[in-house]
Amino acid sequence: MKRLWILLPILLWGQEDFISHFEYGEMLYANPRGVSCAECHGTSGEGQIIVEYRDEKGKQVLKGSDIRQNTMSDMVRALNSYHQVMPRYYLTQEEIQAIYDYLQKKNKMNVAQNAKSDSLE
Ligand code: HEC
Repeated sequence: MKRLWILLPILLWGQEDFISHFEYGEMLYANPRGVSCAECHGTSGEGQIIVEYRDEKGKQVLKGSDIRQNTMSDMVRALNSYHQVMPRYYLTQEEIQAIYDYLQKKNKMNVAQNAKSDSLE
């Protein structure tokens, strides 16, 4: 028992920074216990074409929406309800927050990067 007390701080310390909040969100976005968000919303939430097909009305395009501007409450609402295309997920509030924070940070990084490459031209 005494040994455990010596080990405890090491165990706690080891777990804290195992992966960052950003990496956790990135991981959940790619693998949210179901179909990856990226399959329909693109790698940074910018949205993308899921499928193109033809029917009696002609060419149809099914797209995953751009979710970069969505708020945390949009995210919670979207993930906790049923849709025609988007699957229903069973993520906790913390998991949704991690995905939300990931998208926010990722897009801030993208904006910064674009500004940098623009100034080089
Ligand atoms: C199979 C494709 C698909 C997958 C996978 C998917 N979505 Fe969606 N999502 C959609 C489509 C299409 C819409 C818009 C229409 C609707 O409500 O179905 C949408 C809507 C949303 C919205 C609401 C946008 C708005 O304007 O209100 C959010 C937020 C969202 N998705 C986040 C996610 C996240 C986070 C994941 C992963 C956990 C995910 N989606 C996975 C297809 C998908």
